[in-house]
Amino acid sequence: MSIIISPSLLSVDFLELKTELERLNQIDDLWLHLDIMDAHFVPNLTFGEPVLRNVKSATKHKLDAHLMVTDPDFFADSFKDLGLHNFTFHWEAEVHHDRLIEKLKTMYPSVGISLNPSTPLSVIPNYLLGKVDLVLLMSVNPGFGGQKFIPEVIDKLIELDKIRHENNFKFQIQVDGGINEQNAGYLIQAGANNLVAGNYIFSEPNKDYLSRVNKIR
Ligand code: DX5
Ligand code: ZN
Repeated sequence: MSIIISPSLLSVDFLELKTELERLNQIDDLWLHLDIMDAHFVPNLTFGEPVLRNVKSATKHKLDAHLMVTDPDFFADSFKDLGLHNFTFHWEAEVHHDRLIEKLKTMYPSVGISLNPSTPLSVIPNYLLGKVDLVLLMSVNPGFGGQKFIPEVIDKLIELDKIRHENNFKFQIQVDGGINEQNAGYLIQAGANNLVAGNYIFSEPNKDYLSRVNKIR
């Protein structure tokens, strides 16, 4: 699998959103990571359908929605016509995982499940790992950009990669939070093939985002 970098929109200059998206359009093979927060599942509030609609019209990249919300089923319906590529919900937020995954598969090309840093892999039964397209391991406690990477996620990543190989599962492994040029190499070696990065990419002083993307790659 090739490595996908998914820059997190959370760290862009929102007063310059269109220009920021144009800068990202100069780079190939990205996903665009969209952190949807509802101020209930996490103590922060971001953006929803109207902003996503505008982002979709101004980007060439696949949209990667990360739902940090207590009611992912509601947002599944609300976002269904926006042309999102991937829809990832948090395992901790849902009770009827199988039902939601089946529903999402009829609505989105790619369906992901996400685990908080402290949620063990053992909560997800193998038959559901066989149904999803992506597993997102959080490497910070969700809610904010610019936090410090939690290194313990690497053990979880190695274990998940092992389960993937043993069962011939096809899901991508995405890691999100505190990713930079220091830890990206370890994550890729340990089995990650999709890395989200916000602060590291968008803090490039000359807005040369390609240079940061290349360093992670
Ligand atoms: C955190 C979000 C992340 C975050 C990543 O709750 O899910 O996507 O924006 O940003 P950095 O790379 O700054 O940790
Ligand atoms: Zn995210």
